[in-house]
Amino acid sequence: MRLVLVGFGNLGRGLSRALIQKASFLRRSHGLIPRVVAAVDEFGAAVDEKGLNLTRLLKVAGKAGTVAAYKGGKRGKLALRVIEGVEADVVYELTPTNIKTGEPGLTHIKRAMWARKHVITSNKGPLVVAFGELDSLARRCGVEFRYSASVGGAVPVVGLAKELLAGNEIREIRGVLNGTTNYILTRMSREDAPFEVVLREAQELGVAEKDPTLDIEGIDTACKITILANSLLGMNARLKDVKVAGIKRVRPEAIRLAREAGQTIKLIGIAKRGSLEVGPKLVPLGHPLAVGGTLNAVTFELDLAREISITGFGAGPKETSSSLLGDLIDIHRTLGG
Ligand SMILES: NC(=O)c1ccc[n+]([C@@H]2O[C@H](COP(=O)([O-])OP(=O)(O)OC[C@H]3O[C@@H](n4cnc5c(N)ncnc54)[C@H](OP(=O)(O)O)[C@@H]3O)[C@@H](O)[C@H]2O)c1
Repeated sequence: MRLVLVGFGNLGRGLSRALIQKASFLRRSHGLIPRVVAAVDEFGAAVDEKGLNLTRLLKVAGKAGTVAAYKGGKRGKLALRVIEGVEADVVYELTPTNIKTGEPGLTHIKRAMWARKHVITSNKGPLVVAFGELDSLARRCGVEFRYSASVGGAVPVVGLAKELLAGNEIREIRGVLNGTTNYILTRMSREDAPFEVVLREAQELGVAEKDPTLDIEGIDTACKITILANSLLGMNARLKDVKVAGIKRVRPEAIRLAREAGQTIKLIGIAKRGSLEVGPKLVPLGHPLAVGGTLNAVTFELDLAREISITGFGAGPKETSSSLLGDLIDIHRTLGG
């Protein structure tokens, strides 16, 4: 399968490493022979229709800061030209998230679909802004569209619900979907430390971004809840439909009181038909959602299976490449491979 990688940052590189490491596994276990025919970043592109040497690409791009430094690479804003012009089966859209416009990912995805290329993305922006439009465009264009990595990182939230739990009606989805806020709340709980102190340390450790607004105000979680509501509950939700509260006002005393009552406080996103919400909630200690550190967790409430929970790493290039590769294998199987 010929792949185009649009975005060669943490995930583009993580996926490339996984493709190198798992080449013979993919061939042996899945009959899948992936070939990256182009990689694009903000500064340029590397293209080779016979397949880029990924080890060399990682080395060269790591050193020069752009894939354009690869032999024969070109400089400039080339994403659309590559998406439309390079012969390929699948476009990976791995550019930064913009939750206001969805761009540049939204246009990348639409152009890829119009060019009859299957799309795999980790980018929440286009999904939050235009889920319904992209879902129906994929159908109209006859292409596959996968976005497992956009919610839960390595945790197969979407796949579990869509495939293995497909015989159930999903009544409610509750999740710890943001590693940064979970890390902060976990440390506040373990050390009785105030929010501001833990946030500063998390920033020093690189667990929290320099501008952590989207995480701590609950907006990142609200984006994921919007995606889950649309993809799993068949809703036509927008980000503005989610009632959101962040974790800034959570005090260590509140966490201590909760603990004395056998509970903890987590930032929980909740999706059910007719109500979408994000906010700090009490969770019984020992419940599957009471995960520590940067872990993510999701609980589905279902008509037949009653309750199913899943937990794992919600971010990281290696961990998230599990979902990015899983989507590729899923498309390969869907196409009869
Ligand atoms: N990192 C994770 O663990 C994780 C997990 C789940 C989902 N995600 C989501 O996945 C996406 C990628 O994450 P990341 O961590 O890999 O981000 P990143 O490290 O910031 O990489 C983004 C890449 O996109 C490129 N880019 C930006 N604008 C572009 C444009 N107009 N055309 C072509 N390339 C462009 C950047 O190029 P330059 O380097 O040249 O600027 C860079 O290579 C984001 O939407 C993120 O929210 C990330």
